[in-house]
Amino acid sequence: MKTHNTCLYKLFPLILFLLPPYIFPQKAGELALGTRKYEDYQTPQFCGTSCHTDIYQQWKQSMMSQAYTHEWDEVEYFKLAIPHAEKDAKVAGVKAGCNGCHAPVSFLVGDVPPPKPEFNSRANEGVSCDVCHTVTGFEGDTPYNFNFISSPGKIKYGPRGGTNSPEHQTVKSDFLSTGEFCGTCHNEMSPFGVWVKSTHLEWKEGPYSKQGVTCQQCHMTYAEGKSASMGITYPDVRQHLFHGAHDNGKIAGTIELRIHPDINEVEPGEKVKFTVALFNQKTGHKFPSGSVEDRIVWMHVEAVDAKGNIYHLKVDKKGFAGEEYTIGTDVLAYQDMGIALNEPNFKGVQRDGIPVGDRIFRMPYFDPQGRMTIQQWNTASLGVDYRIGPRETKIETFSFNLPDNIAPGALKVTAVLNYQKLMKPVADFLGVPDEAEIVVVNKHSTQIQILP
Ligand code: HEC
Ligand code: HEC
Ligand code: HEC
Ligand code: HEC
Repeated sequence: MKTHNTCLYKLFPLILFLLPPYIFPQKAGELALGTRKYEDYQTPQFCGTSCHTDIYQQWKQSMMSQAYTHEWDEVEYFKLAIPHAEKDAKVAGVKAGCNGCHAPVSFLVGDVPPPKPEFNSRANEGVSCDVCHTVTGFEGDTPYNFNFISSPGKIKYGPRGGTNSPEHQTVKSDFLSTGEFCGTCHNEMSPFGVWVKSTHLEWKEGPYSKQGVTCQQCHMTYAEGKSASMGITYPDVRQHLFHGAHDNGKIAGTIELRIHPDINEVEPGEKVKFTVALFNQKTGHKFPSGSVEDRIVWMHVEAVDAKGNIYHLKVDKKGFAGEEYTIGTDVLAYQDMGIALNEPNFKGVQRDGIPVGDRIFRMPYFDPQGRMTIQQWNTASLGVDYRIGPRETKIETFSFNLPDNIAPGALKVTAVLNYQKLMKPVADFLGVPDEAEIVVVNKHSTQIQILP
């Protein structure tokens, strides 16, 4: 009897090892915190030094490699999110949770909060090769909040599989080629149960997913080449570009603009209506998407008369609920940054920092007190969704009452669509002014004649 027991005892680890993984499902999302060791994951340098040299260089330039070190991420996490999480039990989970997507290995290891980027810890790897190439699926029905299942080890999952490598085995994974895989980090729900990031959900309900156009086809485009320096040449190697909002070329031309007048010849004192059609020809989700709380897209329309006088045209109101959030104003907002900054009476900063009266394409986020917020973790509700959907066309009009002293001759009217990754007043306030670089998405002009 005794011998038998000991024998079973000895066999126990082997039995566990042989059991199919679904008997003991691997933990995903919040439950995966602290379930791994750093040694379980290869460093990206290891993958990129002698084998995947080209893919490594692409990844290195993408935001994936900077998900933890990028200055704006560091400021938001250490200056706002951590202090806030320490004061408010409702949002306490973000202290660890931000890393589930931004420094996934540190999250899985339980090294949270990780050392700041200056200490050069493994958190600095960001979303590394071995994070993505050891994912086997996700838990539940909807991908969100890092609910991917991480199974690190000698097996690397990829689009081909079966290719021999001296370093690891490769197994073909159809999952990695799906939008759901990306959705595990590109959908986010706040502690208040609000979708504060929904790039995958927007794609899912839009035209591209229905036609089988995946995230990968626009952000990891396929080209002839090698995926490993000693490997063979394929016609369709997945490029690890991940170009998005931080690539001005990706932003440029996203929306096509056309402006036209309702009349071609007018006299001073008369009224002209200009119509602008904005067509989203490029994104597979809404524009803007992702960090919608930070992004601002706005249209500025100006007329220049024959003498060079400039007139700023304000957008005609349409009258929908919440429209005030879609028209440039000079009110203050984002007062909830005061919680983390220990300034309970913080007055806020300018909401938009763009010319008053310009049309904004955005969706406002509100804190539990109903104030506009850039803190997606403190978001209790969302406002009107006035972004431009994939292949959607939005129409805006600008009525111009010509002043009596307007110069006769040609009047040129130009509509410019601008994009900023972060509203300028917030970027200046938090000391990351580069984030407020203005990127021109597109512009178009028309002309009318002012009769003498
Ligand atoms: C493990 C989490 C994770 C997964 C999985 C993931 N991403 Fe990301 N991705 C991120 C994070 C975090 C960032 C933001 C980095 C930053 O700016 O701090 C990001 C940034 C990006 C960007 C750049 C956005 C910009 O603002 O420039 C693109 C494009 C992108 N991801 C596409 C994808 C695609 C396509 C997939 C699926 C093939 C994918 N991601 C899978 C976490 C992930
Ligand atoms: C955000 C997740 C993500 C990261 C980070 C990432 N990959 Fe990938 N990788 C993918 C996906 C997804 C595919 C397959 C895309 C498809 O099938 O459309 C892929 C494909 C590949 C392939 C196969 C290419 C081919 O077409 O033969 C290799 C090799 C590869 N990755 C290596 C790397 C290396 C090395 C790194 C780090 C320098 C890396 N990956 C980082 C998601 C990622
Ligand atoms: C038809 C092509 C296309 C498809 C499909 C597509 N995207 Fe994009 N994506 C773009 C373009 C163009 C941009 C740049 C404009 C912008 O920022 O929205 C972009 C931007 C982004 C950004 C930055 C958004 C922002 O405004 O900060 C992220 C993140 C992203 N894509 C992830 C994804 C993910 C994840 C999927 C799949 C669920 C996906 N994309 C599908 C074309 C596409
Ligand atoms: C579910 C995954 C996920 C979680 C959790 C998450 N993020 Fe992100 N974060 C992303 C992705 C994906 C992007 C890129 C979106 C885009 O480019 O539009 C991003 C973008 C950002 C950006 C903007 C980066 C830029 O360059 O514009 C900041 C700042 C940021 N995250 C900070 C945080 C903080 C702080 C937390 C915790 C409170 C957090 N994130 C939690 C996935 C996540």
